[in-house]
Amino acid sequence: MTSEMWNRRSFLQLCGALGAGAFTAFKAEALERVQAASQSVADRSPEEVAKDEFFWREIQFAFKLDRTLINLNNGFTCPTPKVALEAEFRYMEMINMLPVHYQGMVARNCETLRPRMAAEFGCDPEEFAFTRGASEALQIAQNGIDLKPGDEVVTTDQDYPRMLTTWDQRMRREGIKVTRFQFPVPTTQDDLYQRFEKAITPKTKVFHFTHITNLTAQLFPVQRISRLARSKGIVTIVDGAHALGHFPFKLRDLECDAYGVSLHKWLLAPLGNGCLYVRREMIPKFWPLQAAPEQQDDNIRKFEAIGTHPWAIRAALGEALAFHQAIGAERKAARLRYLTHRWANALKVHPRVKVLTDLSDPPQSWGVAAVYIEGIDVRALARFLMNNYRIVVVPLVGGVPPNSVFDYQALRVSPNVYTTLDEIDTFVKGMEDAIKNGVPEDPSPLPETISEAMV
Ligand SMILES: Cc1ncc(COP(=O)(O)O)c(C=O)c1O
Repeated sequence: MTSEMWNRRSFLQLCGALGAGAFTAFKAEALERVQAASQSVADRSPEEVAKDEFFWREIQFAFKLDRTLINLNNGFTCPTPKVALEAEFRYMEMINMLPVHYQGMVARNCETLRPRMAAEFGCDPEEFAFTRGASEALQIAQNGIDLKPGDEVVTTDQDYPRMLTTWDQRMRREGIKVTRFQFPVPTTQDDLYQRFEKAITPKTKVFHFTHITNLTAQLFPVQRISRLARSKGIVTIVDGAHALGHFPFKLRDLECDAYGVSLHKWLLAPLGNGCLYVRREMIPKFWPLQAAPEQQDDNIRKFEAIGTHPWAIRAALGEALAFHQAIGAERKAARLRYLTHRWANALKVHPRVKVLTDLSDPPQSWGVAAVYIEGIDVRALARFLMNNYRIVVVPLVGGVPPNSVFDYQALRVSPNVYTTLDEIDTFVKGMEDAIKNGVPEDPSPLPETISEAMV
């Protein structure tokens, strides 16, 4: 089937020519329709498909959203598609019927997800552990590595606050030393590499950094820094909360020792899914957060023994993965980049607008970018966009340790695969309104939806 044929057929169906019965079937077949849409554009490049609104309409219909609001804060956690949400409810109901019977069964069946996830994201299944989010994954690695008083961890001022707090607690509790460095945004891969290289002392034992930051989405050269670390006997713990499922890469190619992910972000898995990758040889070097028997020392499953927990959430990950694969990782990344470029290119012609994310080629950014308007307070701007355009964006404002520290203020803008061009253009319109007419000052606290805590 050619893409024109697809477009014509999907157009007729979307016009409602088939009536309400067909609409119900349409919902049930959402995954198949996404797969069919992908198949129909298989002969076109991801960049071409990124601009095909007929293709993306299929994706938009795969979610139940509140379209009275424009969600440009997908860096927080993302809505999961209907197929995954419905699967979660189904598994929940099933387990609830007779937990002692069904819970164990679902738990055993979830083992099939390990090789599927490992194959998609490029690692050995025995290097892949399921967690409830990136915080848990990273804290397993951070708290699980043996360090003596005086041993040094090198990290950055723009790492995620909870992860910085974890190192700070080890500093207070065990007397390790934590060195943070600052960096400008955007900056180059060479610059970041050199900053790590310069920070090394004879006491350095761990490098901890993000693959992309949750702030401006600054990309780090993970493989180069990991090679440098390995050559000096330094362990690398990488925060991939925002990277996996967002843009394509293979975990093994990063060459880091441990890598933690929020699967409820860009993989669009139901809330409460994450994963931890640990390089095979390094598994025995990390203690699990919750104790495991000695026989499991070199078994990746030792990181997963957390007692009774809602297996339905993990089981539904299978549908989120299928949805991701049905779109295709390359097409998804190209679309996210297309949406980001659409607003950024429209806004950067205004002399007061500054984009703090590198939008150049080869790609270093996809669905997350940061922007500010000179002379306009970023909190007031977020409030203005919400009050006048119902747009949800998050203002970035630097804090003091143990939080992230940075000297810029910006809006983080993060659309998603379901975002329409109209929503992007409304954001541009709102920003242009702010540039032209200014925004009112309002010292009262921001509503929670758009507060800077929501990063
Ligand atoms: C960079 C980064 N690391 C870690 C986390 C924590 O992830 P989770 O909420 O899945 O525990 C986040 C969440 O926003 C993040 O942005």
